[in-house]
Amino acid sequence: MSDIAKLQIGDNQYEFPLITGTENEVAIDIKTLRGATGGITTIDPGYKNTGSCQSAITFLNGEEGILRYRGYSIEELAEKADFLEVAYALIFGELPTKEQLDKFHSDIKDKSIVDDDIKKIIDAFPKNAHPMGVLSSLTSALTAFNPSSVNVDSEEDMYNSVVKILGKFPVLVAWTMRKKQGLPLNYGSKSLGYVENVLKMMFEQPNEEYVQNEVLVNALDKLLILHADHEQNCSTSTVRIVGSSHAGLFASLSAGISALWGPLHGGANQAVLEMLEAIKEDGGDTKKYMAKAKDKNDPFRLMGFGHRVYKNFDPRAKIIKVAADEVLKELGVNDPILDIAKGLEQEALNDEYFVKRKLYPNVDFYSGIIYRAMGIPVEMFTVMFALGRLPGWIAQWREMRLGKEPIGRPRQVYTGENYRAFKDISNR
Ligand code: SDX
Repeated sequence: MSDIAKLQIGDNQYEFPLITGTENEVAIDIKTLRGATGGITTIDPGYKNTGSCQSAITFLNGEEGILRYRGYSIEELAEKADFLEVAYALIFGELPTKEQLDKFHSDIKDKSIVDDDIKKIIDAFPKNAHPMGVLSSLTSALTAFNPSSVNVDSEEDMYNSVVKILGKFPVLVAWTMRKKQGLPLNYGSKSLGYVENVLKMMFEQPNEEYVQNEVLVNALDKLLILHADHEQNCSTSTVRIVGSSHAGLFASLSAGISALWGPLHGGANQAVLEMLEAIKEDGGDTKKYMAKAKDKNDPFRLMGFGHRVYKNFDPRAKIIKVAADEVLKELGVNDPILDIAKGLEQEALNDEYFVKRKLYPNVDFYSGIIYRAMGIPVEMFTVMFALGRLPGWIAQWREMRLGKEPIGRPRQVYTGENYRAFKDISNR
């Protein structure tokens, strides 16, 4: 294939270079388009056909259901690595040596204390505030308590900001949940692993010693790995574009949390559970909900199904489905919701509407079933997604800033009124 693309507009022909990535993805480099054509641009709602950047972090192949972080397959990482190893690899590019991992974890623990005045912000929220809104606010507020985190032009500043947010974010997650439950806001222990500490901070009861459950530790560690990055999804693109204005890391992450909150994105894991609960309340009538999902006049969508990139099974959904069976069995939980989910999946996989549109279960379809079995409240599900996605957001933000990418500023096609003279109010 030639390494240029030719574009014919009227009598003029233009040539643009082709970029080919390490997995043979090809893109047309249109950096010169507007200048060369005297102002012609492209339009692509939802950026379904438009790449925003070149990135070396995560590779997806939606047709074949492939997901790799820094070249490592999601299947192997979920099986053989722990979350902090994966976070290190995403952010710094290589799986860490034991020494590197130990220092990384030690630096994170040293920076995990959150200014106590943050509690005053948490107190200001009504108890029924959605945790994603609270967490987005608290993450942005961290900038006020850590002003040095804004200037990350040096590798040292960048590293300090990275370990700060990886240390403080799990505390904010635990405090957000416990505040709603009327429980004291505590810290875990520096003697624990990263995920063990998350569970202790979230679930420790003030009047008894928290006993770790290896099943929960392993399940959460795997879920966080599966959510850790996913190339240029909605929330990651948000983090990158906010950071491109040279806003600080914490402010950029706060914006990403807000984007993830949406039910079409990370909010889907909560919406899936609510949908499955509704089907259960309805006597398990999955056919009614399948019909609603296919009815163009009904805004209802089968939550947890479909994906912008995967037109095959989401490899994460396959892993989570197996984990859901294991975790519920090991916890001795018999959840009828899981049976409804499996029944719905089978129906959709054999339904012409879903098959034709290549709508398969995505990462959000089964994850909520595990979170619920672990005792995590349903409105905290998307917060757990954010906890997992944190290293991916950081890695993508760091790559954008170190790559000195220009400020993100898309163009548009104007479709409003042409020039018209101002009309005095007496003449309107
Ligand atoms: C995540 O991008 C990422 O990587 C995201 C993510 C990550 O890790 O960051 O993977 C996490 O967000 C997973 C997706 C979670 N969202 C949901 O489960 C919500 C339900 N799914 C959809 O709303 C939808 O599938 C999207 C938003 C995920 C993708 O939408 P697209 O790519 O814009 O596809 P589309 O809306 O153009 O749909 C194509 C067709 C349409 O029908 P037609 O107009 O062609 O007749 O498929 C239909 C849609 O109506 N369709 C669905 C459907 N999803 C798409 N119909 C019923 N139920 C659904 N779930």
